[in-house]
Amino acid sequence: MRKLYFSTLFLGSVVLLVSHNVSGVSVEKYLTLTASQKTTLDKFRQKVEPMLYANYMKQDTYLIQWIRARNFDINSAEQMLRENLKWRKNNGIDNMRKEDWSDLVHELPLWLGTYDKTGRPIGVFEVNLWDIRGIILQGRGPRALRYVMNLVENITGQVYERQEKFGMNVTQIVILANADGFNVIQHGCPVCLPFWIQFIQLIESHYPEVLDEFIIINATPAIQVVLEAIRPFLSKNNRDGIKVFGPNKAKWMPYLDAKISKEERRERYGGTKPPIEY
Ligand SMILES: *[C@@H]1O[C@H](CO)[C@@H](O)[C@H](O)[C@H]1NC(C)=O
Ligand SMILES: *[C@@H]1O[C@H](CO)[C@@H](O)[C@H](O)[C@H]1NC(C)=O
Repeated sequence: MRKLYFSTLFLGSVVLLVSHNVSGVSVEKYLTLTASQKTTLDKFRQKVEPMLYANYMKQDTYLIQWIRARNFDINSAEQMLRENLKWRKNNGIDNMRKEDWSDLVHELPLWLGTYDKTGRPIGVFEVNLWDIRGIILQGRGPRALRYVMNLVENITGQVYERQEKFGMNVTQIVILANADGFNVIQHGCPVCLPFWIQFIQLIESHYPEVLDEFIIINATPAIQVVLEAIRPFLSKNNRDGIKVFGPNKAKWMPYLDAKISKEERRERYGGTKPPIEY
């Protein structure tokens, strides 16, 4: 039964593997509120202000995320933010970036220091380098998950840094993945799926509205197995943010060119940025 399910997915996935042309929400749209939404934001701010202990949390752009994620229902947005702050405290999220990650940094490489044309930080990774299955079978799944959350903290931290230090209108992040070499055994295995689902649940609970786009290039039909499995756990916003391109360069190149300059992309992504040095 399970086998049948997967092969049906494989067949269906070929059809799904077309590029979507919906562009991400612009900064202007992100920041634009109607008068009544602005009133809601002001009320929300009054309610939650005493809890906000970091400067970035006091920004409109930060507060809007919770309200948007809860459809402008202040009470439910407050609940969500409250749970997030509790999670941050109980898990030492604020200090996670200072922990020693040298055991995972080369096993799960994510390249930082890349920005799209509007200044959004981009995390870039090569799916085939991430041996999630191997790590989980070694019993290091929880640690790997914490490491990945540390990467999320880094990228979202760059957003706040750009706002505070450079006054930039940056509110969201981009993830760019090269899925060349993706295989179901190593990346979509039965023990890998719970890892990704847990990851998504953390993102949905604690980083709402943060993702502009998750762009996958060189996707094989097999990646749809994972995407289909995680789809029910994604908010509409994040679902719409996933852009999947097959190996046809003629399809993904113009899309990336429009969004990220060639100087910011490495060769495998059709750019001219010098290779990574380790
Ligand atoms: C940021 O965006 C807002 C809303 O679109 C605009 O009013 C403001 O001038 C922008 N600031 C910068 C530094 O670009
Ligand atoms: C993100 O990580 C890079 C590389 O480790 C580091 O140089 C940078 O300061 C970090 N940025 C933030 C905002 O944590």
